[in-house]
Amino acid sequence: MPEGKRPVIIYGGSFDPPHRGHTALAAAALRQLKPSALYFVPGFRTPFKDLLPVPFAGRAALLKAALAEAGLGGRKEIKISSFEADRKRVVYTYETVAHFRRVHPGAPLYFLMGSDCLAGFGNWRRPGFILENARLLAGLRPGHSRGSGGAPFTALAGRFPRADSTGIRAELFLGRRPAQLHRAVLENIEKKLFYLGRERALLRKLLTPARFRHSLHTAELALRLAPAAGVPQQKAALAALLHDCARDLSPEALRRRCLKRAPRAAQPFLLLKEAPVLAHAWAGAALAAEEFGVKDPEILEAIALHATGAPGMGPLARLIYVSDLANRGRAFREAELVRKLAFKDFEAAFRAANYVKLVYAFSGGGWVHPLSVSLWNSLQEKKKG
Ligand SMILES: [Fe+2]
Ligand SMILES: [Fe+2]
Repeated sequence: MPEGKRPVIIYGGSFDPPHRGHTALAAAALRQLKPSALYFVPGFRTPFKDLLPVPFAGRAALLKAALAEAGLGGRKEIKISSFEADRKRVVYTYETVAHFRRVHPGAPLYFLMGSDCLAGFGNWRRPGFILENARLLAGLRPGHSRGSGGAPFTALAGRFPRADSTGIRAELFLGRRPAQLHRAVLENIEKKLFYLGRERALLRKLLTPARFRHSLHTAELALRLAPAAGVPQQKAALAALLHDCARDLSPEALRRRCLKRAPRAAQPFLLLKEAPVLAHAWAGAALAAEEFGVKDPEILEAIALHATGAPGMGPLARLIYVSDLANRGRAFREAELVRKLAFKDFEAAFRAANYVKLVYAFSGGGWVHPLSVSLWNSLQEKKKG
């Protein structure tokens, strides 16, 4: 076949991170279509959606590592395109298709995707334009039907490993090693401290091993509950990991950081006198901002309010409040009850968490922070209203 008439394949996606499903799909597409070029086109990751997105260069390096391990490293047809990343905004697939149509005017163009993306194709921008210029090419992953919303597509022969990027990222945020990743990709991620590796490394220095484990348990639950709480995945992970970052500071450092951050409503002087253990929440917010460079006000709020709670807490703060109390590392029975409830009715679990904490505080017979009591009252008023 003359060069211009051989197919050209565009493989769009976030590749955040690239996994075995991606390389298996690319290998099948190369085998079946024998294209003159297969372009991986990693999309732009918005800082709005991701607090600390892995930059294009980082994902391109991970992709190269994955391809090399999958035995595709030497294939001249494979190229990694910065077309979408260079635009510094979300680029629609029809724009990418139009770009490669201009670059390869005579070639049959294919747009490669997993079957899970295929089902949503009808909702993409300008699907008609895409279908006029390119043919959809899909691998069918286990558990997905051949449904394409009516759009014609070419199916790749073979079955492709199940791998969902959200689940893989959740494991990476917890410092685990997901099996869906090539070994070389994992090593690269760990070396470059992507996916909150930098934050975990710093946290490990600040906390005792038991406290570090508690932070991971809190993050694990927060990640699982994040969709029900209406919170983005990475925000949930970062806030949960850092919620107790100041817990092991010296009393003097705690006091100094707490006074820096705690507003008048937190009654910092009374708190330091009556219940100094609570100071770590506000001190933690100060430490997260200064040492970890956290700027997101919702994360700082979640850290500051995780111990006492407060009326009007936002969704992320509520998520961390519940996850701190109800994670699987907690030995008391109420933790499991609240945890189970949270998967059925998150708001009910939030009220229950406040109840459990207040009962614990009252049973100690000491001073109870007014913000915790105000939270209780505000939730009762809401229930009646
Ligand atoms: Fe805490
Ligand atoms: Fe905690």
